[in-house]
Amino acid sequence: MKALITAGGQGTRLRPITYTINKHLFPIANKPMIFHALEKIAKVGIKEVAININEGDKELPVAVGQGKKFGLKITYLEQKGGPLGLAHIIANAKSWIGQDDLLFYLGDNIVAGDLKPLIDKFYQEKLDCLLALSHVRDPKRFGVPVIQKGKILKVEEKPAKPKSNFAVTGIYVYKPIIVEATSRIKPSARGEYEISDAHTYLIKKNYRIGYQEITGWWKDTGKPEDLLEGNSLILSSLQGLDLPFTQLKKEWQIEGAVKIGKGTKLRGRVVIRGPVIIGENCLIENACIDPYTSVGDNVIIQGTEVSHSIICSGTQILQCGVRIVDSLIGRNSIVKAEDFTLPSGHKLIIGDNAQVEL
Ligand code: G1P
Repeated sequence: MKALITAGGQGTRLRPITYTINKHLFPIANKPMIFHALEKIAKVGIKEVAININEGDKELPVAVGQGKKFGLKITYLEQKGGPLGLAHIIANAKSWIGQDDLLFYLGDNIVAGDLKPLIDKFYQEKLDCLLALSHVRDPKRFGVPVIQKGKILKVEEKPAKPKSNFAVTGIYVYKPIIVEATSRIKPSARGEYEISDAHTYLIKKNYRIGYQEITGWWKDTGKPEDLLEGNSLILSSLQGLDLPFTQLKKEWQIEGAVKIGKGTKLRGRVVIRGPVIIGENCLIENACIDPYTSVGDNVIIQGTEVSHSIICSGTQILQCGVRIVDSLIGRNSIVKAEDFTLPSGHKLIIGDNAQVEL
């Protein structure tokens, strides 16, 4: 079995973050999002991976590399002709897929747990297609299966009146027949070759489609709050203390699962309540880092409380008199108290499409 991962698209709902970084490289628990997918894929013994990227994308292949560190061989496939839908991505990978079975993985999906149960079920039941489903509150945003007596009759893409509370998640297992299915469908009203239509095609042609419910966590990370939730999900599996120092000073209070990278220093009164991950060479001084926070490398946090946030590398948060919560702060940013420099007052240098709550 090979794996095909999607890593294209514009990430418009994540602007301004995605003006300067491909969403699949945005750090979740201090690792580029797509690394979590690659690790899961390597764990089930798959060796060959192709990553679908935007035409001309040079950033992602450089950041991800050839796969050695994951025990994988990674090929990059550019999606020519723009974003024409998920089925088009598979059709585009036709010669790379060849006659092999395929795990298709949307690179912005974050899941807890292993992929093994999905792959085991696919082979045990001799399926042509296995869809991983998840119970959701808002199925209208997703592909939704119509299920009767344990069988999927069809899959409707973003239906106005969903016929179940299941979403088809972004993890699919296929026999190579999927390639033919993706070339037999027509574009939808939104102009895309929909993966749901390829599934419905397989069902109509009497291929064997099964499903498995993902009982743990699943999140597709389209919006800022999804990134924060995905970050919390991954951080919840942190365990114990992993610190670069052996002596804890009495003015430090460190509790729960906390991982701190080498070269990071704590100074003055510091409270860290896990799950929290802090990168390398940071300075945390007279500050409180509360649960579900990821702090990248070379970050300075002084005199501020931060909770349930992602703070990217090189950023400085200085003497803010307010708690920073539910925030995504990109690389090399500065957030500081209004009276840090005079005159006092909120001084903002904010790029396009930013969001600030004062
Ligand atoms: C895509 C699929 C949809 C699926 C979803 C999962 O939607 O078309 O069937 O439920 O991924 O993340 P999109 O993210 O393109 O809106």
